[in-house]
Amino acid sequence: MLLAERFAASSVFLRDWAPIWSTPVFAMHDGGWFTDLPEVARWIDGDGRCSDTTTNAASHRCAEELDILDAFESGAGGVGLPAVLLELSRAARRLCALSPIAKGAQRVSVRPRDARFLSEHKWRQVVRFIEALPPLTAGASYADWCAGKGHLARTLSLTASIGVTRLERDPDLCAEGTRLAEKMGASSPAAAVDVMTDTVFDHIDASTHVLALHACGALHRRLIRIARAGRVVGISLAPCCYPLTDELPYAPLSTAGRSEGLRLEIEALRLAVRGARDPLGRRARRQRRAQAWRIAFDLLRRERTGASSYTSQPSLPDSAFGGTFRDFAQRLARQIGLDLGPLTDVESAEAEGYRRLARVRRAEMVTAIFSRPLELWLVTDLALALTESGLQVELGTFCDSATTPRNLLLNASADPRLLTSKTYASWR
Ligand SMILES: C[S@@+](CC[C@H](N)C(=O)[O-])C[C@H]1O[C@@H](n2cnc3c(N)ncnc32)[C@H](O)[C@@H]1O
Repeated sequence: MLLAERFAASSVFLRDWAPIWSTPVFAMHDGGWFTDLPEVARWIDGDGRCSDTTTNAASHRCAEELDILDAFESGAGGVGLPAVLLELSRAARRLCALSPIAKGAQRVSVRPRDARFLSEHKWRQVVRFIEALPPLTAGASYADWCAGKGHLARTLSLTASIGVTRLERDPDLCAEGTRLAEKMGASSPAAAVDVMTDTVFDHIDASTHVLALHACGALHRRLIRIARAGRVVGISLAPCCYPLTDELPYAPLSTAGRSEGLRLEIEALRLAVRGARDPLGRRARRQRRAQAWRIAFDLLRRERTGASSYTSQPSLPDSAFGGTFRDFAQRLARQIGLDLGPLTDVESAEAEGYRRLARVRRAEMVTAIFSRPLELWLVTDLALALTESGLQVELGTFCDSATTPRNLLLNASADPRLLTSKTYASWR
């Protein structure tokens, strides 16, 4: 399927289900879409499980329920999702099926000891990114967009024996990048520059192929605009952090995107980059206890003060969550100057905290179905903005999602020969 066709199909899917993905999770129980999907509403409510919230035993039951949800999300099976959600998940997966970008000519042959300056994860991302690049050409210059410490620039320089300029605003990161490059004998000079300003054109021109590994919202939007204007010969972009832009609600860069009329507020952009949950285990359970207790405390606070909305709570050390909920509530109350009174209802508040947390988690599982479709819609908008300007584009994954969930790569060039060893628009 062509990019544009897939984009149109994704737009229909997202438009049809917009009431779900555009409703913030905390507001879901008030949301109108519940009335249309009573089966989902009942499931989010726990199908009657955890309905008794008056005792300590109820807290334990709700906590067990959260274990089951965690297990389900980590692929270990468990919760029976309502049929409509299973269908939606399948539809989302079909729409998001993308081929990996074929490996190009570059194989990273840098000795493993060279990888010691970066984490195992980052190293794998850099290697996969380089292997998915279009063929390097003799006449082109190369620049690493928002390079950080320049891991990508340094590794590519060593791999292909070429110069790769590091464009980076932070002088400390520039200096550290220079130190590492010199240590390794890489040719990757720093350009301390704010890429949002025109001074960036002192370092790139119409012969530059710009590489951008995990460039955030405004930074990758700027790069797309530069590529559209023909001010570089090509780009290889793995975007991330879509919410980091002032252009809100999301302003599509392609004509196709604008004509779809989808309204993506910042919550939808956050949903598009929602990471996987923490792994199971003690840490996850501690975190969950902290969340349930904070919800429970807020219930007590509202009851005592008559307030109707959530108020943010001060941060507390881990030790505050090591004792009982009663100890925690008294400590937090003292800290914010609230008189909680005799605290006879502490057990039911705690159990209700767990019950509500389980509810939020289930609601999150519903919205998570739309996470990847939203991300792909955003990246396809960028891709179409480039094709509309006459550039050749290929879009695919450059690594698996365990290496990084932000694993989409867009190779684009004004010169079709630069992408000739690849299939364009590599949708499966
Ligand atoms: C998410 S990091 C990506 C770093 C690197 N590409 C990587 O994958 O490790 C974003 C980098 O962009 C840099 N940055 C942010 N705004 C910038 C700007 N306006 N001009 C140049 N660099 C910028 C930050 O200093 C940071 O190093």
